[in-house]
Amino acid sequence: MRADILFRGARIIDGTGSASFTGDVAVIDDRIAAVGQLGDWTANKVEDCTGLALAPGFIDPHVHHDEAMLTDPLLACMTSQGVTTVINGNCGFSIAPLTTARDLPPPISAIVSNDAPRFASYADYKARLDAEPTAVNAACLIGHGTLRLNAMDDLTRAADATETAAMCRQLDQALTEGGIGLSTGTFYPPARAATTQELIDVSSVLKSHGKLYVTHMRDEGDGVIAALYETFAVGRDACCGVHVSHHKCAGLANHGLSETTLKIIDDAMAKQDVGLDTTPYTASATMLNSGRHKQATRVIVTESEPHPEQAGRDLSAIAADWGVDLDTAVERLLPALGIFFIMDEGDVRRILGYEHTIVCSDGISKGSHPHPRVWGTFPRVLGHYVRDVGLMTLETAVRRMTSMPADRFGLKGRGRITKDAFADLVLFDPETIADAATFENPIQPAKGIARVYVNGRAVWADGQSTGTRPGRTVTKEQPVQVV
Ligand code: ZN
Ligand code: CU
Repeated sequence: MRADILFRGARIIDGTGSASFTGDVAVIDDRIAAVGQLGDWTANKVEDCTGLALAPGFIDPHVHHDEAMLTDPLLACMTSQGVTTVINGNCGFSIAPLTTARDLPPPISAIVSNDAPRFASYADYKARLDAEPTAVNAACLIGHGTLRLNAMDDLTRAADATETAAMCRQLDQALTEGGIGLSTGTFYPPARAATTQELIDVSSVLKSHGKLYVTHMRDEGDGVIAALYETFAVGRDACCGVHVSHHKCAGLANHGLSETTLKIIDDAMAKQDVGLDTTPYTASATMLNSGRHKQATRVIVTESEPHPEQAGRDLSAIAADWGVDLDTAVERLLPALGIFFIMDEGDVRRILGYEHTIVCSDGISKGSHPHPRVWGTFPRVLGHYVRDVGLMTLETAVRRMTSMPADRFGLKGRGRITKDAFADLVLFDPETIADAATFENPIQPAKGIARVYVNGRAVWADGQSTGTRPGRTVTKEQPVQVV
């Protein structure tokens, strides 16, 4: 038998959580053709994988690269980490469908520029990506905040029946066209006035599509428990699975609370479909005017519209320079984004170590000073938390980055090294893999990632993008075609 690429002598971590083994993987075209001891195979290209691990490409279920797909199609921040599939449209904000001509308010303006092309339907966005592919595969959630912008003039109140019906129609169409679920972000001003009933009414569309309700909850701090119960209520009343995005317990007063929240999630899981993901950092990143700076031990300003020169500086240093208090400095910087040191390391480890938690970056690649998670998330888990801290086995961690998100979002044929699966693969050195991105210097490719393949084509090799863009748009329905 002859392969296009033959990986020889790799430590194969197949994505299921099973113990790794040394073996070979043959790739023909965009698929894995065989796995095992393939001594009788030849290949156009043989990769000697001695000392390296071969895993399914990582799936990042929570990113905000909706516009970056168009402006930065190589997405080195993703491929350099071993990520081969992303899910956009999170936190209530998707680039499509945008049928409104209005200026985009924060925080969607931090994800989608006002001068970005507007796609009136998800099908239009998908068609653009299919015509001009990126380096990674991409699915997209449909944002409730985006639907609100289309349906409502006044975002400071709950939707009425006509507006809700308009949102339902747009959602139904977008899901039919391949949107992978609904995301909400009731934490953010454009959706804060939405009632639980509005969320249930819009989510009722999900059932017939069998797709998920994915939420940046109303509160991740003092009100996180009530927000969890609201999320479960939406799932029960709308008859859909619910997924808690970037689960955290924010604020000094809530440090340690994950012991309780995980128990509550555990109990809910016994009764209904619940899932969650998280990022491996004690700092979050969000809008500056959320009041969050009052609960953080340190704040780094990452972007400020009136004061772009302050990007990357500590809020306390800016306030000191200006001779004002923190609140006044925040007022002067708005609209602005910041990084908030607001979580407890113990909570981060407890949530990351919880058996049902999926890994995500929650990355926005725009701006000069992003959160280091944009470039560092997956290697940070595999290097810092697996190898250095010993929080879980390498096989378990890889499972949370591959088969778990694939199964959760219905990405068939992805997330496992098995015959006939898509050849999304990452070759890395478990001894040296590490995140290099820091809060001071956040745009840094990780160490220890040797090569990354998407649909059988190398996208990252020898420390740089290959320039190849074999990514595809993926949806929940995509069948696995047996070769
Ligand atoms: Zn979010
Ligand atoms: Cu997000």
